[in-house]
Amino acid sequence: MYKLFFRLVFTRMDPEQAHHLAFRWIRLAARVPVLRTFLAAALAPRHKELRTEAFGLRMHGPFGLAAGFDKNAVAIDGMAMLGFDHVEIGTVTGEAQPGNPRKRLFRLVPDRALINRMGFNNEGSLAVAARLASRTPVFRTVVGVNIGKTKAVAEEEAVGDYVTSTERLAPYADYLVVNVSSPNTPGLRNLQATQALRPLLSAVREAADRTVRSRRVPLLVKIAPDLADEDVDAVADLAVELGLDGIIATNTTIAREGLGLTSDPSLVKETGGLSGAPLKARSLEVLRRLYARVGDRITLVGVGGVENAEDAWQRILAGATLVQGYSAFIYEGPFWGRSVHKGLAARLRTSPYATLADAVGADVRKTA
Ligand SMILES: Cc1cc2nc3c(=O)[nH]c(=O)nc-3n(C[C@H](O)[C@H](O)[C@H](O)COP(=O)(O)O)c2cc1C
Repeated sequence: MYKLFFRLVFTRMDPEQAHHLAFRWIRLAARVPVLRTFLAAALAPRHKELRTEAFGLRMHGPFGLAAGFDKNAVAIDGMAMLGFDHVEIGTVTGEAQPGNPRKRLFRLVPDRALINRMGFNNEGSLAVAARLASRTPVFRTVVGVNIGKTKAVAEEEAVGDYVTSTERLAPYADYLVVNVSSPNTPGLRNLQATQALRPLLSAVREAADRTVRSRRVPLLVKIAPDLADEDVDAVADLAVELGLDGIIATNTTIAREGLGLTSDPSLVKETGGLSGAPLKARSLEVLRRLYARVGDRITLVGVGGVENAEDAWQRILAGATLVQGYSAFIYEGPFWGRSVHKGLAARLRTSPYATLADAVGADVRKTA
């Protein structure tokens, strides 16, 4: 049903317009009490066996919405209603910014992929913090806040910009993510080099501790799939050294491998980050590598090309405690969360593992 609708309506619209339209419907539905209760019951049935704990936070399950979909924290309850166990808002930058000129989002339908060069279009840390402060949650969901660098801020001033966002947003974040891996802000990914990353993460940690004294806000870093293997190891070692709570692997890629079906070459040539099915293999590989390096010392979040329950299960076996998705939601629609949960619960039941936590990293431990 959704697929037919997608083909007839969404594929005829500009992808960004389609996003805003769908987003508006989700927000509207979440505002009507009877409707949202009905939809949550239909789309987000709970499975007790999937209950998950990550960095001290309890969640209904391991499956969340990746950053970029709800940049300004306007639809957290709507996304929870659709079955996401955690919602990562952002990327939010220190200052508001419009992002790159349109067109900046492209659908590569036959490859089940997207290319985007949105460029962190968002209302900025002050406005998003105010929105989070005034929010009355309807559904219980974990809210991650993903922060990035304001484009106009020079690379040398990046730490200050992240610290500003941290001071404003940490009080409302169940967990905080330092995004240094988007390909659409010039120079951003240079911050993944350990000599830049160490002072950045230390400053954000310090700012979060200084701002929020009542609890320790979990801090994660999100990395690119385009890092060389040695650099993945270096980030993993640094994360352990700094006592980080988690690593999110991965963001979108600048590579164009795995695109075999999209026939329009002009689409493939669009600059930006590629996400969806073609990213699956590399994201999984990075995750495995991270787990082999850090084991259970740091929580790993697997994202990139997760399309169904089997993909989510493979991420868990490869070391992910949490799994996120974005692109497949566009292609699969509102029943996606329900089907991933149902499939995950079925896989766990027929697996040799008593709990989801036992399954985390099992494949990597076997081959070690
Ligand atoms: C349109 C779009 C916008 C995105 N914006 C962000 C962002 O602002 N911050 C971020 O950390 N990741 C962003 N991402 C990356 C996703 O969070 C995710 O890491 C990536 O898309 C891989 O997952 P997927 O294959 O399930 O889409 C964006 C992805 C897409 C498709």
